[in-house]
Amino acid sequence: TQTVTDAKAVKVPTLPDAQKVTEVTHWTDRLFSFRMTRPASMRFRSGEFVMIGLMGDPDPKTGKQKPLLRAYSIASPSWDDELEFYSIKVQDGPLTSRLQHIKVGDEIILRPKPVGTLVHDALLPGKRLWLFATGTGFAPFASLLRDPQTYEDYDEVIITHTCREVSELTYGATLIESLKTDELMDELIGAENLAKLRYYPTTTREQSPKMGRITDLMRDGTAFADLGVPQPTPETDRAMVCGNLAFNLEIKEMLEGYGLEEGANSDPKHYVVEKAFLD
Ligand code: A2P
Repeated sequence: TQTVTDAKAVKVPTLPDAQKVTEVTHWTDRLFSFRMTRPASMRFRSGEFVMIGLMGDPDPKTGKQKPLLRAYSIASPSWDDELEFYSIKVQDGPLTSRLQHIKVGDEIILRPKPVGTLVHDALLPGKRLWLFATGTGFAPFASLLRDPQTYEDYDEVIITHTCREVSELTYGATLIESLKTDELMDELIGAENLAKLRYYPTTTREQSPKMGRITDLMRDGTAFADLGVPQPTPETDRAMVCGNLAFNLEIKEMLEGYGLEEGANSDPKHYVVEKAFLD
């Protein structure tokens, strides 16, 4: 007997909410970013996340295919015509084992219902904004750092990014560098506003100019001495946190220790937290 081997002969279901990939960049063997079309009707606030994914494998019994979706922070700012995402590649991850192979022109499913807490609306006005990221937790800040409001609302913006290795900092470092050299950014945000931005990258498992977890560097005062700023206080400081679970819990406790309280969309306060995506 002959089974159908010609892929073209198999009826491919049309994807619901499909968008087209426009750009893929591999940063390391474990990290990549990609851009895709944005539905004209889709609105979001910088820092929010959406569900994206691919069509899953057919169910062995019914042959039916269901979308395989995960929450991904939107890394592009709300004014951008396209959507950008920053992702880890997990070799046995249900979604990222496949997503890492996407090419320009491929379709990705997008549920255009953005939500999330890492938004300006969830914070009370303040003087200094801290953005604390580990690993792919940089993604929502890639959006917020390209949003003029981030600078208009504060006198100072400090982004910290802790990764295991130096190469894992590249996506963030490249983005921050581009803010200062890109003409469009200069026009949209302005040199005066961009001068408010401070970048504090650290690594934990490979030699770099600043070694250590940001939590330890804050606890022993190193980070504050390096940056020349005092410990956060509820009067002046606001924070957004996005990283792995252990990091989120630890820094949350530290922020509470400084007297900061967790805010929400409906009840803005001093800091907000979100978990970085892990397949
Ligand atoms: P470390 O190498 O000491 O575990 P991961 O890749 O595992 O998500 O970790 C990303 C970065 O977050 C790593 O540099 C890791 O440091 C750091 N990290 C992990 N847990 C914590 C924590 N509880 N507090 C601060 N940083 C953390």
